[in-house]
Amino acid sequence: MQFRDLKKQYEVLKLSIDAAIHDVIVNTSFISGPQVAELERQLAAYVGRKHCITCGNGTDALSMALMAWGIKEGDAVFVPDFTFFATGEVVSFEGATPIFVDVDEDTFNMDVEKLEEAIKVVLEEGKLVPKLVIPVDLFGLPADYEKIEAVAKKYDLKVLEDGAQGFGGSLNGKRSCAFGEISTTSFFPAKPLGCYGDGGAVFTDDDEISEYLKSIRVHGKGSHKYENIRIGWNSRLDTLQAAILLSKLKAFQDYELEKVNKVAENYETSFRELQHVMKTPAIPESFYSSWAQYTIQVKDREIRDRLQNFLKEREIPTMIYYPIPMHRQKAFEGNKLYQLCPVTDKLCETVLSLPIHPYMELEEQNYIIDSVKEFFG
Ligand SMILES: Cc1ncc(COP(=O)(O)O)c(C=O)c1O
Repeated sequence: MQFRDLKKQYEVLKLSIDAAIHDVIVNTSFISGPQVAELERQLAAYVGRKHCITCGNGTDALSMALMAWGIKEGDAVFVPDFTFFATGEVVSFEGATPIFVDVDEDTFNMDVEKLEEAIKVVLEEGKLVPKLVIPVDLFGLPADYEKIEAVAKKYDLKVLEDGAQGFGGSLNGKRSCAFGEISTTSFFPAKPLGCYGDGGAVFTDDDEISEYLKSIRVHGKGSHKYENIRIGWNSRLDTLQAAILLSKLKAFQDYELEKVNKVAENYETSFRELQHVMKTPAIPESFYSSWAQYTIQVKDREIRDRLQNFLKEREIPTMIYYPIPMHRQKAFEGNKLYQLCPVTDKLCETVLSLPIHPYMELEEQNYIIDSVKEFFG
């Protein structure tokens, strides 16, 4: 059994993906070929943004957004404590300070009250300038943007949506990657929309920011590649990846998103009887998840590790996303802790992600469900 079955997905999409790859190779348009512009057009239309600027990966996408705003030393950037390392890493990379904010135990996303508390602490200290908040759409569920945007407005902060895991999710019908002034995503293979290597994208409605991003992704180019008007870097999405993504985006829209939601629904109803021993992911009203992960919570670490081993013996792969809170990562050892994060501390001990993907057969899923039930007796 696969945790996310990319082999099965390829079997189903083989004809179209093979043809797309072949087309790029035959035309030798490996860099910035027409598929890249077409993908950007389709992605922007899908999420409901004016501009999509693809790039090398989701980490570069976040960094490019920070560059566009000139985030630098002395700036405070608020990020969830429970996320993938890149969300905080890019802040430190620009010389700014990541401020770790605790998350909501039910949704795994940034706790908006805790965000406001952290902003106040930074303001009272008076050493850093609060500039930006980076909410993450963890495991496919959009963060609570309506509340976050209200707090950001109150303290004059910008919002950068880290939609690396969120592509396909929505809040009140507005799609992930359309929140905040800038939003980003990742096409890492296991993401809701993944390519066959690294890839990422930035989204914005702002024409000037869009032009700036298109320039810095190709060495700070001006009107052409050999006129360089600023210091940039090299972060383009390969044409091959764009061609693969075009094929996958169609399947994603046609049926994958719906199917993965059916799988999540089946988990939800089947696990209801285990409510007293484990917690399933909460999807609040008007939110829709793209289920990058299906993550359950059990009582403590000892039970979590035993359950993981029990499933492993039955050849059911599981993952621990994430085992270490951001504020406890060695790389952030020297950073001051502005807020205690007890919820994240607890989640890192109690979460377990189960296999989920749109190509999961009912028998496979029932085997997982029965095994979890068997474990809890
Ligand atoms: C929340 C989050 N942010 C950023 C990234 C970085 O994306 P990439 O791996 O494409 O650089 C990831 C990818 O794992 C992620 O999950």
